[in-house]
Amino acid sequence: MARTLIAGNWKMNGLKSAMREARAVIDGLSPSADAECLICPPFTLVSAMAELAAESGLRVGGQDCHAQASGAHTGDVSAQMLADAGASYVIVGHSERREDHRETDTDVAAKADAAITAGLSPIICVGESLAEREAGRTLAVIADQLAGCLPNGAACAAFVVAYEPIWAIGTGLTPTRDQIAETHQAIRERLTARFGEATADATPIVYGGSMKPANAKEILSVPNVDGGLIGGASLKAPDFLAIYAAAG
Ligand code: PGA
Repeated sequence: MARTLIAGNWKMNGLKSAMREARAVIDGLSPSADAECLICPPFTLVSAMAELAAESGLRVGGQDCHAQASGAHTGDVSAQMLADAGASYVIVGHSERREDHRETDTDVAAKADAAITAGLSPIICVGESLAEREAGRTLAVIADQLAGCLPNGAACAAFVVAYEPIWAIGTGLTPTRDQIAETHQAIRERLTARFGEATADATPIVYGGSMKPANAKEILSVPNVDGGLIGGASLKAPDFLAIYAAAG
């Protein structure tokens, strides 16, 4: 069984004042809960949040990393730097990066490899556009993305897959239970074919896209859904904690 992961993606939101939300999340976590709780703040807050979260149940992650460990890449941050700042996860291949920065599956695979090498767990995002869903191509698109993005490294049990239908991100729209179940099962089958059953079963497959307190319990009860990647609803501690509680 994969562990449950409730991950917040703050995107390009959060000044130093937002640390009070992280503090409130830490204070609201229940030590006995099974689910792992993670916030991926902007790079500027990773180090301070990791310090705040030390010895608490909260994990901290980055939202992207460069594929190289260091070098002449102005403005970029490496996986090793994130690990050094106290991160334990990093999101790679988010659809906003694929769109804003033209990131390809090959780029995402290189970033995932770099993350694993640095000791981080990459959260590898896949998901179809509305046009692809309407054309009945969802499972084919996801299969292609997985084939291109999954790390080849031996330590392959150390990653997370996030299924994020692009049309559900920030829109308030969510797929039906059946649509989520179908896609997550297909992802599990792909992982099994590539890495074997033990690794596939231990790899969390989380859902992302307009997850909020009102729909969290239902989405988290879908078979093969091992948690959530939450954008908007992770910015306010009470909402994020309500989703975390729904996982427990
Ligand atoms: P959302 O974003 O929860 O605001 O839809 C999810 C994500 O992009 O990770």
